[in-house]
Amino acid sequence: MDRLSIIGGTPLNGRIPISGAKNSALKLMAAALLTDEPVTFHRMPNLADTRFLSELLQTLGVEVYWPKGENTCRLNAAELTSTIAPYEQVRKMRASFNVLGPLLARAGHATVSLPGGCAIGARPVDLHLKAFEAMGADLKIEEGYVKAAAIHGLKGAQIVFPFVSVGATEHAMLAATLAKGETVLENTAQEPEIADLADCLIAMGAKISGAGTATIRIEGVETLSGTEHNVMTDRIEAGTYAMAAAAAGGDVTLEDAPVEALTALVGLLRQSGVTVDADAEAHTLRIQRNGSALKATDVDTQPHPGFPTDLQAQFMALMTVADGTSIIRENIFENRFMHAPELSRLGADIQVRGREAVVKGVSGLKGAEVMATDLRASVSLVIAGLAAEGETVVNRIYHLDRGFERLEEKLTGCGANVRRRGEEDE
Ligand code: UD1
Repeated sequence: MDRLSIIGGTPLNGRIPISGAKNSALKLMAAALLTDEPVTFHRMPNLADTRFLSELLQTLGVEVYWPKGENTCRLNAAELTSTIAPYEQVRKMRASFNVLGPLLARAGHATVSLPGGCAIGARPVDLHLKAFEAMGADLKIEEGYVKAAAIHGLKGAQIVFPFVSVGATEHAMLAATLAKGETVLENTAQEPEIADLADCLIAMGAKISGAGTATIRIEGVETLSGTEHNVMTDRIEAGTYAMAAAAAGGDVTLEDAPVEALTALVGLLRQSGVTVDADAEAHTLRIQRNGSALKATDVDTQPHPGFPTDLQAQFMALMTVADGTSIIRENIFENRFMHAPELSRLGADIQVRGREAVVKGVSGLKGAEVMATDLRASVSLVIAGLAAEGETVVNRIYHLDRGFERLEEKLTGCGANVRRRGEEDE
């Protein structure tokens, strides 16, 4: 199994291009199921997760044209040959569950495995299912599968989410595009990926207003057509490299950065003493820290526009070397501190108390062998490794390959000493 070796202590200097957003791409790919015309995506990130979803789409009958290594991908769901998403595929990648709504809306029925729990908590899908029921779907759970039917089509509905869910908002929006009548979704998530999905659906002929706010209205249409869409750039990837530069020191400019989507992070980085030049028009974010100390800064994860849970692990890695004590509170997922004991292996001082982690900054980290537990946790270990003295070896880096395109290349391009080691190198 591949591992990543990082020799820390070198500042990062240079430019890093930001790729298309994984979390947006996965929902956009599911949207291609809603039409019998081809949909072409540009800036599609080449990742284990997006490749994996393209395989699932192929098993449903979607023609996929996506040459290896390329960032343009064409999906053609002219004919659906199956409406079953098996356990093996949904278990490996939760976002596969998002094919349920589009299949139900287009074909009138679908059988999709429940995703089960994951490394960061139970992650139920009850809100997704309640939304489909409100739209008139008949749902049964049998042997771990959701069997859904809407023989006469889905109907528009008024759905008030009891709390904010990105996945349920997107999933209900996808299904409602082809429902009869108007659907009003209230207390919706406002993450930028939702507006990106809505933009693509609108280009396909959907009637959607309010995406990016707390109320989304969708007037169902009979059919949707094909389109071309540029996947938005990845705010989590951009935020991760911003923190890598802050932790290692140096001067890094992120290109194609979704600057406005990163306001919460930029505020906290500045508070912790990092110089950040954000240029929304040029889509660049320049991060500088040259020898100055980092100040301990508290963080509280919240739905957008608050601080994203997907950047919490990376911020914790940064705070391990700050002056003073920071309190990191995780409000979105119940078990998202798996990186804390791994960071401690590098010498970090972190106490986890329920949903809070108390991070006492230390004067320096020392390289060690560590284990990646989930996607964002694993990249926090890379950040810590870049700031540490000596060698850090991150095991189980398949987690990183799920969500970071060309990670080693982007980091080594800025002078980092990062190398992938396969078994043959051992
Ligand atoms: C998405 C992102 C993930 C990010 C998260 C929060 C993708 C592929 N993943 O995940 O990277 O960390 O948003 O920004 O886009 N919940 C329920 N019932 C439901 C749905 C959610 O209880 O039916 C709970 C979850 O367990 C969690 C909270 O609601 O505690 C928020 O989850 P949600 O916003 O739905 O996250 P995802 O869409 O799964």
